[in-house]
Amino acid sequence: MKQINQLILLALTAFTFACGGNDDPAPSVDAPLALNPTTIEQTSFEAKWMAVSTAESYQLDVSENLQFTSFVDGYQSKAVTGTSHEVTGLSSNTRYHYRLRAMKGTTVSKNSNLVSITTLLPENTPLKEAANGFYIGTAVQSGRLTGKHDELLRQEFSSITAEYEMKMDKMHPTADTYYWEACDAIVNYAQSNQINIHGHALIWHNSTPDWVENFAGTNDEFELMVKEYIHTVVTRYKGKIRSWDVVNEAILDGSGDYRNSVFYQRMGKDYIAKCFRWAREADPDVLLFYNDYNMASDQNKQDATFTMVDELMAANVPIDGLGFQMHIAYNGPSKETITKAANRIVERGLKAHFSELDIRANPNKDLTRLTEERALALKAKYKEVAGIYSALPAANKYALTIWGMKDDESWLLNFYGHIDWPLLYNADFTAKDAYQGFLEGLAN
Ligand code: XIL
Repeated sequence: MKQINQLILLALTAFTFACGGNDDPAPSVDAPLALNPTTIEQTSFEAKWMAVSTAESYQLDVSENLQFTSFVDGYQSKAVTGTSHEVTGLSSNTRYHYRLRAMKGTTVSKNSNLVSITTLLPENTPLKEAANGFYIGTAVQSGRLTGKHDELLRQEFSSITAEYEMKMDKMHPTADTYYWEACDAIVNYAQSNQINIHGHALIWHNSTPDWVENFAGTNDEFELMVKEYIHTVVTRYKGKIRSWDVVNEAILDGSGDYRNSVFYQRMGKDYIAKCFRWAREADPDVLLFYNDYNMASDQNKQDATFTMVDELMAANVPIDGLGFQMHIAYNGPSKETITKAANRIVERGLKAHFSELDIRANPNKDLTRLTEERALALKAKYKEVAGIYSALPAANKYALTIWGMKDDESWLLNFYGHIDWPLLYNADFTAKDAYQGFLEGLAN
């Protein structure tokens, strides 16, 4: 009983103390409402807020982190008046956060909401510099490494993938020949320009040479041949090619079953684990990826792929990452669908590669020219995808690779047999709105 009395007394004292101990209400002032800035520049922005009628001035905090522990010089409780203030002396392409408190005499309000902004990129920032800690790649061909191609490659991109010249039918066209010329040319070009090289693809049902499709020997001999192929190619480019798609497109659309390729028929589903192990034997440092398409849009295929990846990881198969090809369209899949799928890579601690990005502007064949409206829709989608990738944790990012440089060179024109504009550059090498969108997405 005595204890309860003491508690009541304590509570009463606390209440009286909080009320200031007399009949006058404590002076108070409402917290302001911080608004989005009206102008954002490379090194400044105009912070805005709604006036609090009883306020005499405000305190403005600008921080580089959300916890408000890393203040911009001079912007911790900076005294300001009016309803806006130009914050200066900032770095370009950097994220900042601000909040305010209203002041009346010595009374300070609670914090306002916080507003986050990113300062602008310097004029003409190339894609590779806008990307924060990962490569910006493009697909190349050995015959397109000069002139304007060369200029844009060196200016904008930090990684390349051979569009077709590192596939088995090109590199090992017959049982007793290897053809290295094109691959060497691409590797030498990248090396002499400090550009990263992603190898694509060791095993792909669609680039299997005839002699392998119709292999004359036993299954054991087949397996030995695949092992030798992987050893030979990965060893040749050891230390030069940073990463390989070891197996490409092993899972079927819809059903999620294993594709009945010649590799599957000859070696069973273990061919995948074996190929990864052989690649690792040849180069202990190279990053090894599984690569496939429709990874966001086809839920069954996605589930089956992650089941396969989980099995590989559980068996200590050396897999470093997953490539989502990302041949998508301006109207889908949605941001949520792509983000959810990409997060499944992150959850497993693997590297994510958006490995063959192109975005169809004309998936329904309703256009004969790229209209302003559709160009802007395409721009928005490029911005969205770049934003999704940029937002992944740093440790899970590797490269965001676009499948070709300019519209008239896109593989999609042949693949679908009708006109489209899926890339970042026009046929004359000028940058499209899509380029701007992509750049903006990288910067955010
Ligand atoms: C395509 C190339 O763009 C074409 O030039 C080539 O003739 C066929 O292959 N998925 C992949 C890529 O993994 O290798 C494909 O590239 C596009 C679909």
